[in-house]
Amino acid sequence: MDFTLSEEQLMIQQAARDFAENELLPGVIERDDEQRFPAEQIKKMGELGFMGMMVNPKYNGSGLDTLSYVLVIEELSKIDASASVVASVNNSLVCWGLDTFANEAQKEKYLTKLASGEVIGAFCLSEPEAGSDATSQKTTAIDKGDHYLLNGTKNWITNGNTADIYLVIAQTDIEKGHRGINALIVEKGMPGFEVGPKENKLGIRGSDTHSLLFNDVKIPKENRIGEDGFGFKFAMKTLAGGRIGIAAQALGIATGAYELAKKYSKERKAFGTEISNHQAIAFKLADMHTQIQAARHLVYKAAWDKDNGNDYTLSGAMAKLYASQVAMETAVEAVQIHGGNGFVKDYHVERLMRDAKITQIYEGTSEIQKIVISRNILKA
Ligand code: CAA
Repeated sequence: MDFTLSEEQLMIQQAARDFAENELLPGVIERDDEQRFPAEQIKKMGELGFMGMMVNPKYNGSGLDTLSYVLVIEELSKIDASASVVASVNNSLVCWGLDTFANEAQKEKYLTKLASGEVIGAFCLSEPEAGSDATSQKTTAIDKGDHYLLNGTKNWITNGNTADIYLVIAQTDIEKGHRGINALIVEKGMPGFEVGPKENKLGIRGSDTHSLLFNDVKIPKENRIGEDGFGFKFAMKTLAGGRIGIAAQALGIATGAYELAKKYSKERKAFGTEISNHQAIAFKLADMHTQIQAARHLVYKAAWDKDNGNDYTLSGAMAKLYASQVAMETAVEAVQIHGGNGFVKDYHVERLMRDAKITQIYEGTSEIQKIVISRNILKA
């Protein structure tokens, strides 16, 4: 078993670390406060090849493996989880989905722009009444011969307003249940498509999350991804990989919080010595470090499975379940170690704590991951 990262992976990791420290850290507190999208930073991430990392270079991607992608998301998330979710959704839900399942014309028209970071994409599955229960789609895409007529509402859509290209999951044939669902490529500006109000969120406040409203939007048939009725499978297969990206985000948040807490504990004095000399604090750090390493092994293993042609639904779900729990617990403890300073914004850990929570919710809640895990282990 070889745990060594390749020269190329180390270089990419370092590039992401430098970028996060030099470009994401300045202004991260203000962006969070003002709910301001990191537009300039995302543009630069596109220039660095971080927006279409696993896409074939033929379509402007970086042609890298999943592990490199995970390393980048981890580094970005240590400092700015709002920027990292924009990248994660664009990379693993939008670009990977199109690269793997779209036809040549769709790739030429849409993927080339998304992978270069020229435009951003969004993945639209959740609805007011279909969050975890994703087969209960109320949005309809009625077959009208040469086009689908799209009607309905999508909720909590990451990149909701900043995206130009949306992958929308909708029900075409209710009789067929999940086999009657399609995935359609929708462009901003199509008549009848409206972006709803922005959500005022607990965490990842720099990312823009909106509802989307579709009112008789005509979607040309050529914008359907895959065969008729492939939409639900498209969503599940794409989300299986997406969950590795969110697991990497959780790992990054945990690591960022831990590193801040460790540094602080070596500077802050109480009872005549640095607080790291008190076992109450040293043991917290020992637990955090151990749990983060365990999460890292799960996350990298899931990426390795994907890169090596193994099934990664189970390993990705386990990685997301555990890494998100570690992110939440580590961030809470990092605030505790910072004491009163942890409760104010300047020390960053309260933001990481707020950001950590969403990793237990989006791209499948922890409870959904347990459904996926239990079904996979029981069928074996
Ligand atoms: N790969 C391929 N196919 C899959 C699959 C996978 N990983 N998981 C399920 N399927 C297939 C099944 O085989 C089945 O097809 P067949 O009947 O042809 O065999 C079909 O999909 C339906 O599967 P289930 O019967 O298991 O469906 P279910 O109703 O029991 O639900 C679920 C399964 C796993 C709970 C699913 O509904 C789910 O994942 N829910 C969570 C949804 C989710 O993650 N939402 C996140 C929104 S996206 C987001 O957050 C993005 C963002 O902006 C950050």
